[in-house]
Amino acid sequence: MTTAYSEARHSGYAGTREPLTASRGVYAPQEDSRFLIEVMDKTGLAAGRRVADLCTGSGVVAIAAYRQGACEVNAFDICPAAVHCVRKNAAATGAEVAVHLGSWARAAEFGGYDLVVCNPPYVPHDPDADFDPLPPEVGPARAWDAGYDGRQVLDPLCEQVSDLLAPGGTLLVVQSEFAVPRQTLAGLAAAGLDAQIVGYRWIPFGPVLTSRARWLEDTGRLEPGRREEELVVIRADKA
Ligand SMILES: C[S@@+](CC[C@H](N)C(=O)[O-])C[C@H]1O[C@@H](n2cnc3c(N)ncnc32)[C@H](O)[C@@H]1O
Repeated sequence: MTTAYSEARHSGYAGTREPLTASRGVYAPQEDSRFLIEVMDKTGLAAGRRVADLCTGSGVVAIAAYRQGACEVNAFDICPAAVHCVRKNAAATGAEVAVHLGSWARAAEFGGYDLVVCNPPYVPHDPDADFDPLPPEVGPARAWDAGYDGRQVLDPLCEQVSDLLAPGGTLLVVQSEFAVPRQTLAGLAAAGLDAQIVGYRWIPFGPVLTSRARWLEDTGRLEPGRREEELVVIRADKA
């Protein structure tokens, strides 16, 4: 099964214009993907620059970076189905993207980058909690599950991203309020980067957060009855 989408329809920015596909087992681009692409476009940071897209999924952000004028795009994902999907989507759209199977940390092999973009897994998760089952078409849990506090990828990323960046380089990372953006800001600052939130967006809960809403309420992270979350895009600059 494939999920057809066109992020250009939603963002109106210089992303891809052709419908792409996210095959079974690959995260289909969602509001967080589009938000990150939109902020990348507004900043103009991809044009003429070396870009790394960490946690690339279908490759939608990597392909948008190419469309926004990046001179080189490298994309990384631990999921073989995602790597296959990006290659297919890049070929279908004529985007030049070097796709690498492996952890985002592999990006160090090909750095430093002028721009690192990342839509990581950031949804809080407890393997022992009693969540409602998700429909299979929602996608793979490893695309979003990120430990009890949602920071399984974000914390090491904050520690190591400076090593991926060229002097003067920038990170743009999108995350949910539930993975505590101020910890990302603190982690990036501790790594010597100048970090700030450059975009906010409220979105309704999708199926994953809906299934965890009661648990988030019970653990004191969600006001009873609220069913929307705030996404942020954080920008961090290296001197
Ligand atoms: C939320 S999805 C984002 C996909 C895409 N960038 C987008 O915006 O639509 C996160 C992706 O990260 C990948 N992933 C999870 N852990 C990873 C890791 N340690 N290193 C690289 N990729 C990872 C998952 O396979 C998934 O494709």
